[in-house]
Amino acid sequence: MVRVVAQVILAVALTGSLSLGQQTKLQAIECPFPEGQDVASEAKCAEYTACEWTDGRCHMVSNDVGGYVVDGEAQDTGRGFKVNLKKADASKTMFGADVADLVFEVIQHENYHVQIKIYDPVNARYEVPLPLNLPAEAEADPLYSVSVSGNGEPFHFSVNRNTNGNTLFRSEGPLTFEDQFIQLHTGLMSSYLYGFGENTHTSFRQVFEPRTTFPIFARDQPVGTEPMNEYGHHPYYMVMEDDFGNSHSVLLHNSNAMEYSTFLLDDGTPTLTLRTIGGIIDLHFFLGPDPEDLNLQYTNMAGTPAMPTYWSLGFHLSRWGYNSTDGVRAARERMKVMGIPQDVQTCDIDYMDRQRDFTYDPVSWGDMPDLINELHNDNIKVTLILDPALVIDFDNYAPAARGKDSDVFIKWSDPSFVPSDQEAGTDDYMVGYVWPDTKTIFPDFLKPETATWWTNELKLFHDALQYDAIWIDMNEPANFGTNLDKPWNWPEERTPGVKCPENKWDSPPYPTMMIRVGDNQSKKISDHTICMSGNQTDGTKTYLHYDVHSLYGLTETIATFNGLTEVFPKKRPVVLSRSTFPGSGKYAVHWLGDNAADWTQMHMSIIGMFDFNMFGLPMVGADVCGFFNEPDLEMCARWMQLGAFYPFSRNYNTMGTADQDPGVWPEVGEISREVLTLRYKYLPFLYTSSHHAHNARELVIRPLLNEFPADLLARDVDDQFLWGSGLMVAPVITQGATSRDVYFPQGLWYDLVYAKLVATGPTTQTVSAPLEIIPVFVRGGSILPYQVPALNTVESPQESSGCTVAPDELMIAQGQIFWDDGERCCSTAMSQSYMSRLAYYQDELTMSVKHGQDVGIGINLETIDILGFPKDAQSISVNGAEIPSSGWRYDRDARLLSIYISVPLADDLNVKIYYDNDGL
Ligand code: NOJ
Repeated sequence: MVRVVAQVILAVALTGSLSLGQQTKLQAIECPFPEGQDVASEAKCAEYTACEWTDGRCHMVSNDVGGYVVDGEAQDTGRGFKVNLKKADASKTMFGADVADLVFEVIQHENYHVQIKIYDPVNARYEVPLPLNLPAEAEADPLYSVSVSGNGEPFHFSVNRNTNGNTLFRSEGPLTFEDQFIQLHTGLMSSYLYGFGENTHTSFRQVFEPRTTFPIFARDQPVGTEPMNEYGHHPYYMVMEDDFGNSHSVLLHNSNAMEYSTFLLDDGTPTLTLRTIGGIIDLHFFLGPDPEDLNLQYTNMAGTPAMPTYWSLGFHLSRWGYNSTDGVRAARERMKVMGIPQDVQTCDIDYMDRQRDFTYDPVSWGDMPDLINELHNDNIKVTLILDPALVIDFDNYAPAARGKDSDVFIKWSDPSFVPSDQEAGTDDYMVGYVWPDTKTIFPDFLKPETATWWTNELKLFHDALQYDAIWIDMNEPANFGTNLDKPWNWPEERTPGVKCPENKWDSPPYPTMMIRVGDNQSKKISDHTICMSGNQTDGTKTYLHYDVHSLYGLTETIATFNGLTEVFPKKRPVVLSRSTFPGSGKYAVHWLGDNAADWTQMHMSIIGMFDFNMFGLPMVGADVCGFFNEPDLEMCARWMQLGAFYPFSRNYNTMGTADQDPGVWPEVGEISREVLTLRYKYLPFLYTSSHHAHNARELVIRPLLNEFPADLLARDVDDQFLWGSGLMVAPVITQGATSRDVYFPQGLWYDLVYAKLVATGPTTQTVSAPLEIIPVFVRGGSILPYQVPALNTVESPQESSGCTVAPDELMIAQGQIFWDDGERCCSTAMSQSYMSRLAYYQDELTMSVKHGQDVGIGINLETIDILGFPKDAQSISVNGAEIPSSGWRYDRDARLLSIYISVPLADDLNVKIYYDNDGL
């Protein structure tokens, strides 16, 4: 018997539908071992009473004995329903402490959004304390229905799409709900699975064969190619269900350490396992049905992507290891000499005095205020890095002393955990070690007092150094040498790093595979971070670091964002954060962490951008030319070309490596100038796309599948990407290549630079791409606004603007122009931003201003480039008046018609082209 809810249909009971209650071939649902699957043996398997050894595999026992049973009738909650579950057989366990009684609850939200919670009704367990944006009332016509097995039956549930019966989630095998091990399996409608992070994905589409497992838990983990957990925590995925492109997405709203596994059941069903070692099961389903709809639906709940400040879309330059203000000056000079556009100069921890936050080195960086003035006079903005860990030097280091007075630092959850050799005067703080030469403590950004203290420090810091943006690094939080005898960067004579106590939090029975991957030397989940038995509080409740660890980055981001709104009243704060969580996109820009100068990692950066756009963080990019190792000229040239199309575009490398800014090699400098000039030309399009991301939650960086969901070939393309819907970038990411295959989906595609029609898709073509060329195409049907590019954005907006019109097969195209003062926060008044719609319909272009005429004053639309225009014009009228023939030019070879006008953006516009279309 199956219980179904669509609205609240408790009366509807189906029997035997959706194959619930049937046992699929469950042998493939393997039991995980903390030491890894290599240790699987009959004897090891026997340690789990919930598992059995058959056919040489250790797998879960069947659901009727190993899982839960529905215990009673479903109850209407007014917002859905709930039903009690009880453990079928208490003796069947994996790691012990099974929760005997559970509640399965369905909560309806928007028609496209349903939440399913499975929790302990008796002993409240940890739930993510940061609020989501949920509607006050359920909408009336859900696109979904949720089915659950009937009273007395083994527990299964499924989530279905009402319009076509697609089964989006169908629990497979037994549910395991132990105190520190929760496991759920679902069959998927297809293997077109995307998302989850932050992980080292080498393909955008997930792999099911062989079985692949990735951990998720915020971690100071550089990029690599083995399945690892990195800086952020995003248990969010999307499945494309069928050939039509119907898609749904799911968030497991849980911040505990977790892992996901993808595999094929013996009958070939793509299956997903979700495991977490704390909290509850809290699933949010979004019904789409298009991938682009999902973005709107997800970010509506998790957080609207921030509107970037215009200058932050310019090019950023930095490195760790300028070592002095003169090092920065030299790099800036190279950019100027080569005429390479730049908007932002960033400084890493080498500017600090002994790596202490809110200070600067009095010797090599003693004239830092002068340097910042010089950069500002040069129209360059300045980003400064801060780490969360502060040194314990309460007598000589005022930020830490003020923090102590405000009681902002993370403590041990039990006085008995304080190590006996912990430094005197450090009370019950959890003491660690990161970059500075003395030990550190970590602010608890969940606490309101911490936010107040941090804001004050940001203000005082700005009094000393007039920064424009803050980069918050190491905020997983990273700690060096945890559980080891010596942090890797300590001089020999120092005492060991923090050693975490042996308890159920720091040594959980199933620590997930994270302890076996990457550089996890201590084989603990606290490796590279602070101990799980730390205590944090939001002022009303206390939390173990075990539960809230992955929220550290987001809470620091919010505190920094809010602090900067006080430092820069009425301006949009620019905060760059390494660690992120669902919701971070509302506040932060993200870079993809410590990568290496490596061709595979260059490719992975595109996948990283796809992942983070899905996660609601469109302002993303990787360290251009690689952080570790040294690129050669070819790699850096290719990476500068790709990076010119990252929303967050920054060339960056680490200490001890050679300079790699684009001015270092004349040839790379030339190539960079060309490609960044192209970026700067189309910044108005990127800005308009960013506005759509902020306003309508459309992706800025789109995988092809977002625009062509029913195109099965497009679903596997992860080495090309779109800006918005209209521009496709196909970078060269292979060493030595001077051409590449490009997949052109349905429609017309024009070369952006040469303006020629290149392909009529769907088709794959080999395009020429010598070192100085990055293939970029405009999609037929689009109108892209542009500006006359300058050396940075401060100069550009003063210039005139134009638009590139790329008609489709029906000679139709459309686009928009969004503009405001580039940094104003946070007025929603339409009059303070400009928006116009551009529509091209068979030889006629109209621009209609939607709002903000005044904002458009002073900017003229001066050039209209129409691609693929069949013939030279005979006459052209602008707002009804014919213009002289010197007012346009036709390039017969490219079929490009360029019309020169001078019409204020503030006014509506009509341009009509007359030509002899005989014989076309
Ligand atoms: C780690 C960051 O990921 C990297 O970008 C930075 O250069 C170093 N910390 C030093 O601050």
